[in-house]
Amino acid sequence: MTPKTNTAQLPKDVLLDLQDVKVSFETREGTVTAVNGVSYKVRPGEVLGIVGESGSGKSVTVRAIMRLLAKNAIEGPKGSIRFNPNGDQTYDLHELSRDNRQIRALRGNRIGMIFQEPMTALSPVHSIGSQISRTVMLHRKSTKAEARARARDLLERVQLPNPDLMLDRFPHQLSGGMRQRAMIALALACDPSLLIADEPTTALDVTTEAQILELLKSLQAELGMAIIFITHNFGVVADIADRVAVMYLGQIVETGDVDDIFYAPKHPYTQALLQSIPRLGQKKVRRLKTIRGSVPDPYHIPSGCPFHNRCDHADAALCTQERPPLRGFDNGQEARCHFAGQLPEASL
Ligand SMILES: Nc1ncnc2c1ncn2[C@@H]1O[C@H](COP(=O)(O)OP(=O)(O)OP(=O)(O)O)[C@@H](O)[C@H]1O
Ligand SMILES: [Mg+2]
Repeated sequence: MTPKTNTAQLPKDVLLDLQDVKVSFETREGTVTAVNGVSYKVRPGEVLGIVGESGSGKSVTVRAIMRLLAKNAIEGPKGSIRFNPNGDQTYDLHELSRDNRQIRALRGNRIGMIFQEPMTALSPVHSIGSQISRTVMLHRKSTKAEARARARDLLERVQLPNPDLMLDRFPHQLSGGMRQRAMIALALACDPSLLIADEPTTALDVTTEAQILELLKSLQAELGMAIIFITHNFGVVADIADRVAVMYLGQIVETGDVDDIFYAPKHPYTQALLQSIPRLGQKKVRRLKTIRGSVPDPYHIPSGCPFHNRCDHADAALCTQERPPLRGFDNGQEARCHFAGQLPEASL
């Protein structure tokens, strides 16, 4: 039997605590490591933005939290995913199987999830109203009429026009932006303490994206739940997050408060990402940089620091051989780089 780690009660001011989460997949081509020792914390009511290029392990990490990993996934034995939804009872989700009774009671209830593509979460054959009411009735003692009233209230909260009519609409009868609002209503059906939003606005046009972001921000302020907001768009993170975690090849390479990450990034990867996006109010005119090379194939992750082959500051001896430790700074910022804090300030 694998040893249980870290099942201790979390303090009240920590809602979720991931320690050393590892996930690999067995495939015909061999074993691919998608998440390689991820640790992060989410505090009640805060918005944690997770940024990283495609394939960096953002979705696999949250699937591990929800216990919705694919069948070919293998998790590291040492990790822990502690969740403290009400402040007084800690669950180690890492120990729970996909169909475990406890996780089924938490999913959709204390943890809500919204996805990039609403059709993957919404049933095409049930009306919006019945999908929300059923979730309410599954987790809360309520009559059909009470659950329907709650569904109507939620549709109004997510600012869908004419909520009474919307209750009986089917997902295919709504536009993309309306479907995303309906999915947010479903995710909020039971007042979760944690909402996981995995690229919820990527498939939308920019105007609708801005509206959905505004909606999420106002709901967060009103209801006070914590949000893990996953995106590859730094601009979106700046808009919504309190703290940011930057992922690269299955690792968190930098975390910190959103302003610290934006104005004083310490990891060369974060610096390069920020230099590659246009910024309003920029002092001098400059060309946008591109990050040289491409994300390495996850079957062949480079030794040492996985970013060394794309980094302008890499030391041929140290960075190619030794995996850098996470270095902490007084402002709470952390960066996984041998030279964090010693590099020249990036010109952003
Ligand atoms: N079931 C699976 N079998 C094999 N490999 C998988 C499986 N699921 C994910 N992966 C691999 O794990 C890695 C991380 O995937 P993940 O979906 O977490 O990336 P992501 O950061 O969410 O990217 P994106 O921004 O494109 O959504 C990728 O290399 C992906 O191919
Ligand atoms: Mg993803």
